[in-house]
Amino acid sequence: MANLSITGETTLTGVFGWPVKHSLSPVFQNAAFHFYNLNWVYIPFEVKPEHLKVALDAIRIFSIKGVNITIPHKKEVVKHLDDMDEEVRILGVANTIVNENGLLKGYTTDGMGFLRSLKEDGNFSPKEKLVFLFGAGGSAFAIAGSLVRNDVSGILICNRTIEKAYSLKEHLKRNFRFENVEVIPFEKRNDNEIWKKVDLIVNTTSVGMKEEDIALIESKNLNEEVFVYDIVYNRETALISAAKQKNIRCLNGLSMLVFQGAVSFTLWTKMAAPVKEMKKALFEFIKKA
Ligand code: ATR
Repeated sequence: MANLSITGETTLTGVFGWPVKHSLSPVFQNAAFHFYNLNWVYIPFEVKPEHLKVALDAIRIFSIKGVNITIPHKKEVVKHLDDMDEEVRILGVANTIVNENGLLKGYTTDGMGFLRSLKEDGNFSPKEKLVFLFGAGGSAFAIAGSLVRNDVSGILICNRTIEKAYSLKEHLKRNFRFENVEVIPFEKRNDNEIWKKVDLIVNTTSVGMKEEDIALIESKNLNEEVFVYDIVYNRETALISAAKQKNIRCLNGLSMLVFQGAVSFTLWTKMAAPVKEMKKALFEFIKKA
């Protein structure tokens, strides 16, 4: 990438998180600005929980165009927004803010990022497909919502804490009138009968981030037609390794990371995101790291 040239006209964007120094978003957002020759910059801002409100005021004070919001602020931030889109209202979390003339509007790009990644990188249409979803946390709620909006036929939810799986089922019923949901107890996840019917497996849990983590599914249960999507991106999970070994189509979380960033980019700039260049910058950075 060419040298940055900061001027009085430079538009600021960034990410608020804590910790945040490890964030990969600056790599591909700055690459996207560079690609379009925009005098914009994306900076990680370390914001402690007790400073979140003043940090949000600073967006207005410094005319920052927008920020991403990451751990641990995604829920808390919603209290301080001037406006929010429908999905933020339903989910109670936001990961993107747009500063519209001093008014802060919240969005969540995880669901849309996941879906675009699945369709554009995975070449997979979820329409009328049966999904096996691991997890029932924030990511699972966003992803399940995007799948339901895209007409999946049904969702099997499997989560270590079964009560949370039932909460997600209830959420899909209440907010989307989607009732074709079955909760699978975590210890029954390798039950053979389930797997024959499944078209798409999505792992939204953190299982696989550490080398010693268990494999979520026994390899023998992965049928050749299934598509495996694992949102973990810091390493190759046992699930992705098993899929690759069996020549099964799969994607890891790096694809979703770029696409959710691409959706944020478009919210700020109103321009289509240069996804190819963003991915290239990210993969080059990771290779060097
Ligand atoms: P996120 O916003 O990334 O979804 P989260 O809301 O904290 O994060 O959700 C984490 C998910 O990973 C949950 O579904 C969690 O299961 P529990 O609801 O039982 O906590 C799941 N998870 C984390 N560690 C796990 C583990 N060791 N085994 C199984 N599931 C795990």
